[in-house]
Amino acid sequence: MSKTPLYAVLVITISLVYTAVAVTVDWWENASLYQIYPRSWKDSDGNGIGDIKGITEKLDYLKEIGITASWLSPIFKSPMVDNGYDISNFTEIDPIFGTLDDFDAMVKKFKELDLKIILDFVPNHSSDECEWFQKSIHRENGYEDFYIWADGFEDPQNAGQKLPPSNWVSVFGGPMWTWNEKRQQFYLHQFLPQQPDFNFRNEIVREKMLDVLKFWLDRGVDGFRIDAVPYMFEKVNSDGTYPDEDPKNQIYTQNQNETVELLYDWRNFLESYQKQNGGDTRILLAEAYSPIAMLDRYFGNGTHFGAHIPFNFDLWYVTKASNARDVQRLVDGWMNVMWKKHQTANWLTGNHDMKRVIERVGQNKTNLVYFLLTGLPGVTVTYYGEEIGMSNVGSQNSSYQAGRAFARSPFQWNDDISAGFSSSNKTWLPVANNYKTVNVKNQLAAERSSLKVFKALQKLKQTPAFKAFKKQNGFSYKAVNDNVFQIIR
Ligand code: NOJ
Repeated sequence: MSKTPLYAVLVITISLVYTAVAVTVDWWENASLYQIYPRSWKDSDGNGIGDIKGITEKLDYLKEIGITASWLSPIFKSPMVDNGYDISNFTEIDPIFGTLDDFDAMVKKFKELDLKIILDFVPNHSSDECEWFQKSIHRENGYEDFYIWADGFEDPQNAGQKLPPSNWVSVFGGPMWTWNEKRQQFYLHQFLPQQPDFNFRNEIVREKMLDVLKFWLDRGVDGFRIDAVPYMFEKVNSDGTYPDEDPKNQIYTQNQNETVELLYDWRNFLESYQKQNGGDTRILLAEAYSPIAMLDRYFGNGTHFGAHIPFNFDLWYVTKASNARDVQRLVDGWMNVMWKKHQTANWLTGNHDMKRVIERVGQNKTNLVYFLLTGLPGVTVTYYGEEIGMSNVGSQNSSYQAGRAFARSPFQWNDDISAGFSSSNKTWLPVANNYKTVNVKNQLAAERSSLKVFKALQKLKQTPAFKAFKKQNGFSYKAVNDNVFQIIR
């Protein structure tokens, strides 16, 4: 532990003002969400990979530390080229995670504990091994336009060779178009070539995706985190060609207007599902690294609504060097638009694609980040392991796609073999070296620890002063000077 006193760096003060106000917030508006990365949370069968039974086994832990809802990264059938974000069957559980029966048992446990469960919904693309893509390659009836296919151009310099339909560059680098020999056309993929994009201008695709939502809603889930929202549509010219774009300013391949409408459709679908079936609000969380003006639209325009929670990634810019005024600027970015207009807020610290909090802000400030997160109004989202201050494992190498494993190492439950994550000492990713000291068991037993701070803050979050976050209830925040950021509840 470094000896630098916290107050020399940045202090967050939270003042409580108790008022007798009726608290009328829907469950999600004040939720404390926790992201489980299923491969890495708890391995129940000793094969070194986390699974659904493991989650069920350990779910009490979330309740114990004050979490109210959890979202799970994909657990569906997949060849795992992108660790489950390449789905080959949207309504099947991948055998490495378990079975549908295991899933049902897990949902039952969630309900018993009064925790909400949210699944990852990956509508932008499937795996290239998905039956739908295979059928589309062969132009089977009903599947011809399931994906985005285009002829491209004859290469004037190389007779018989084809050039892609546009200069678009995929998120992981390289062209967004890949030639398919069988179909003799290019297909579009915003991510890897093994992740072909669906064609959401095709009504049948839209219906199939609603079927997917319904399938999981019927099994009791409380909502969906929608993957890769900005990438759902790409611009097409009226003659069917695709316009080139500046790769640094992706005006044709991200955040197209039709995406907003699509979110409205999904929201309407969830609302009618609730009307027909009762139960609490089912929610949509949107993963969109988009400008605030676009997040505002993804949330809704006052008459139409999209995602309940468009993720707010701004607190990722809090670093070791940030002072109270920097924090204020970041907080203002969200509050001035989303809170003022819609009275909605959410605060996120990390996920499976990003460096861990401790690496970004340093050990001294990790707890401060949680004061900030919880002190502010609305939803908090915690990536597994952040509550105990887990660090990156391995280095971030240059390729974005390959270099994301560092924040996905096995969860550190205790100081036993493989940190109590697995009974095997061979785990799919190595366990962090510090697990003997940094683990749940130690931190729950210690008088003071990150986990104890986290737990105390979650408790606070459920008190009336914290729940009642609407403007009229006297909430305010400001940077008092460079070192003190004050929040009044
Ligand atoms: C965002 C997910 O968080 C990431 O892990 C994945 O690679 C891409 N979407 C593609 O699905």
